[in-house]
Amino acid sequence: MATKPLSILLIISLLPSIISITPTPTPWPPQFHSILFVNYTGSLSLIDLWYDWPNGRNFNIIQDQLGQILYDLEWNNGTIFTYTLGEGSTKTCRPKKIDVGILRPNWLDGAIYLGNKSVGGFVCNVWEKVDFLTYYEDVITKRPVHWIFYTGRSAYVMTFEVGAVLEDAKWQAPVYCFKKKEGNNNKIESAIGGGFKERLMEGFYRGSVES
Ligand SMILES: *[C@@H]1O[C@H](CO)[C@@H](O)[C@H](O)[C@H]1NC(C)=O
Ligand SMILES: *[C@@H]1O[C@H](CO)[C@@H](O)[C@H](O)[C@H]1NC(C)=O
Ligand SMILES: *[C@@H]1O[C@H](CO)[C@@H](O)[C@H](O)[C@H]1NC(C)=O
Repeated sequence: MATKPLSILLIISLLPSIISITPTPTPWPPQFHSILFVNYTGSLSLIDLWYDWPNGRNFNIIQDQLGQILYDLEWNNGTIFTYTLGEGSTKTCRPKKIDVGILRPNWLDGAIYLGNKSVGGFVCNVWEKVDFLTYYEDVITKRPVHWIFYTGRSAYVMTFEVGAVLEDAKWQAPVYCFKKKEGNNNKIESAIGGGFKERLMEGFYRGSVES
């Protein structure tokens, strides 16, 4: 009868290797600041990304190479302000409303594991969100390293400051974002449909996806 506990022990100790646990992506920290280097078929940009889930807001500050800075400010109520801060006619703002909020910290849940690969000297676990992106996360530190959108646009994570928060005053869209215009300002863009993926394309990564 001494063999019974032993065999149970054996099964328990073998279980992990039998099941072979598939790595899952680490949820995003609720707040972080990241500098991204982005390449879209040779057009380069730097993006300051401020992710702030507890305050329901997300900011992409996009510097195209030798171009002007584009601010892409997103609120969890579906309002997005895309604007420039310049002189005269270069001051533009394109507010819009979509039917979903910013990405949740666990937005990578359900991504398909593809294995590991070395990127920029970092050994990464790789997942795919079908028809959206491929995501690379450092095996050891669990930090994001790289992602490639299905459009071909690729981003490299240059800094990743967990817990960094942009001061409130910087989240204030300029006054000209609130001027009512004739036409399509503040148009509800829910007709596009597509829920989650649409949100990803239209909102959070719009700066990374649009030309
Ligand atoms: C940007 O991507 C293109 C391919 O789309 C590549 O030829 C080029 O070398 C890349 N540039 C940089 C600076 O990584
Ligand atoms: C969403 O929240 C932002 C920031 O508080 C605000 O400026 C915007 O008007 C809100 N949008 C709607 C549709 O309530
Ligand atoms: C990477 O994948 C290979 C092949 O599946 C595996 O043998 C190796 O243990 C993996 N390395 C890490 C660091 O996960």
